Amino acid sequence: MQKWIFSGVLVIACVFAIVLMFTLPGKEQVAEQEKPTMPEVTMDATAAEATIKAQSCISCHGDQLQGGVGPNLQKIGSQLSAEEIYTIVTKGKGGMPSFKDKLKSEEIANVAQWLAAKK
Ligand code: HEC
Repeated sequence: MQKWIFSGVLVIACVFAIVLMFTLPGKEQVAEQEKPTMPEVTMDATAAEATIKAQSCISCHGDQLQGGVGPNLQKIGSQLSAEEIYTIVTKGKGGMPSFKDKLKSEEIANVAQWLAAKK
């Protein structure tokens, strides 16, 4: 009887360990995501504007990037570099969603450069 209780506890512990393994990112994974490297792209303003409209950036940041749920981005280039914007859009930050699964890194880099030029 006690054997059964013991193996039951063991199974629960294993399931818990497996769940933890998937929910807690590994140390290496965190380090890798810390600063994603921005690919080199030639800035294309038309494509950048199309991306921010298609990706609902404007639904949070405003159709003129004047701000809303998210902060005003009209002069974001005077605060953040293209690399910093690239990191925020890729990884997300607070209420800002991550776009790494929705956009190609080249598209994020293009939008980041376009925004970084807004000073
Ligand atoms: C669901 C709403 C939402 C969407 C969609 C969204 N953002 Fe954001 N964004 C936010 C919020 C909220 C913040 C502030 C995050 C913080 O600082 O905690 C933010 C912050 C940012 C920042 C940093 C601004 C600063 O002053 O630090 C940039 C740059 C940015 N967003 C760009 C974008 C781009 C580009 C897109 C589309 C690809 C986008 N956002 C889509 C809500 C959103």
